[in-house]
Amino acid sequence: MDPGFDPDRPDGDDTADPRERDANDPLSEFRERFDVPGELYLDGNSLGPVSDAAERSLERALEEWRELGIEAWTEAERPWFRYGESLGDELASLVGADSEEVVVANSTTVNIHTLVGTFLDARGDRPPGILVNELDFPTDHYAIRSQLRQRGHDPDDHLHVVESHDGRTIAEDDIVVPLEDHEVGIVFMPSVLYRSGQLLDIERITDAAHERGALAGFDLAHSVGVVPHELSVHGVDFAVWCSYKYLNAGPGAIAGLYVDERHFGETPALAGWWGHEKETQFELRERFTPADSAGAWQIGTVPVLAAAPLDGSLEIVREAGIDRIREKSLALTSFLIRLVDETLAAYGCAVGTPRAPEDRGGHVAIEHPEAARISEALRERGVVVDFRPPNVIRVCPAPLYTRFVDVREFVAQLGEVLETGAYEDVDPDGNVS
Ligand SMILES: Cc1ncc(COP(=O)(O)O)c(C=O)c1O
Repeated sequence: MDPGFDPDRPDGDDTADPRERDANDPLSEFRERFDVPGELYLDGNSLGPVSDAAERSLERALEEWRELGIEAWTEAERPWFRYGESLGDELASLVGADSEEVVVANSTTVNIHTLVGTFLDARGDRPPGILVNELDFPTDHYAIRSQLRQRGHDPDDHLHVVESHDGRTIAEDDIVVPLEDHEVGIVFMPSVLYRSGQLLDIERITDAAHERGALAGFDLAHSVGVVPHELSVHGVDFAVWCSYKYLNAGPGAIAGLYVDERHFGETPALAGWWGHEKETQFELRERFTPADSAGAWQIGTVPVLAAAPLDGSLEIVREAGIDRIREKSLALTSFLIRLVDETLAAYGCAVGTPRAPEDRGGHVAIEHPEAARISEALRERGVVVDFRPPNVIRVCPAPLYTRFVDVREFVAQLGEVLETGAYEDVDPDGNVS
């Protein structure tokens, strides 16, 4: 990134003046393209802010609706009939896949339902065990349990949950070893743990699953747009993600999914006409013929207005470049971790995120017994972070619009809240996000 970038220190020189680092940051100009809410917005891994490009592409869709009406399905600048596929093409390089392997469709939870269901069905009579971990975002387990139940399998017998030793992280060996003990057909893991920010090794987990005849699927919600991926190269079987976090496509934006091409032709568990082979979709046949691509896992009509902002927001990510985004993200999180260690440990704050750059995603978990009240006190000052129970202040210096001076300012604000005890006045009830 900056002229002094040292490849041996991918997370940058933390001792440099943050103003200087901002001045040398090749991504600094991207901040102007966003409307960043609040005084300090450090919650982009929950909901990324709106950008000029996302607003434009949404307005374009509205204009096409107004001007073209139903003709827009075929006549829009990016025809809506293939919107899911064409936005998938744009996303493919971000996740390291071929364009036919990626589509945008549904929500993340629905995509977990359909993909896990599909691959449970594909295993036929073999044991349906699925390996997950106890620190997963809960929706993943809810969806998988319900897919097991719908096939008559008791989730308590077939959902194998890797436990954490420290409540923060998952040891990769603990994912690999149970593959021997349980009859696991599918390993389903997050790329980045939503609370601690630990980044798991997708390649290693995929290889271990394949060596034991299992499939490997991933929830990339907390890494897409901030960590580069190589899904095809690593032979990942399937993946899902949302677009409203680091991709900044807006609340409830359409989600994305990847299916490796060797699985094209499998029958989607939740089939619908939008996943039909495109060429014959409008023949409205009685029987479903799945598209010979990831497009088969679409279900109903693409929600154009929930997809349109993604078009513009991807333009920004592409311009910035995922490698530069990752580089700056590591520099920001490294700086934040150092400042917390140096100035806030004395107030009872501890960093719960792995320190090795290769083991962390784009956010940092700051642990404190009063995290709920502290998070709320910060929000009251316009410093937007989120609280994750039981004790995490989750801080996301998203690289497209966060400056090094913002990280320093955040630490100063948190220090003040702790020093003055301002959080003690906050009602502990009703403030948990
Ligand atoms: C890891 C993970 N998976 C899934 C989701 C949510 O999925 P959905 O968009 O279906 O609500 C989240 C939401 O924050 C998440 O963190």
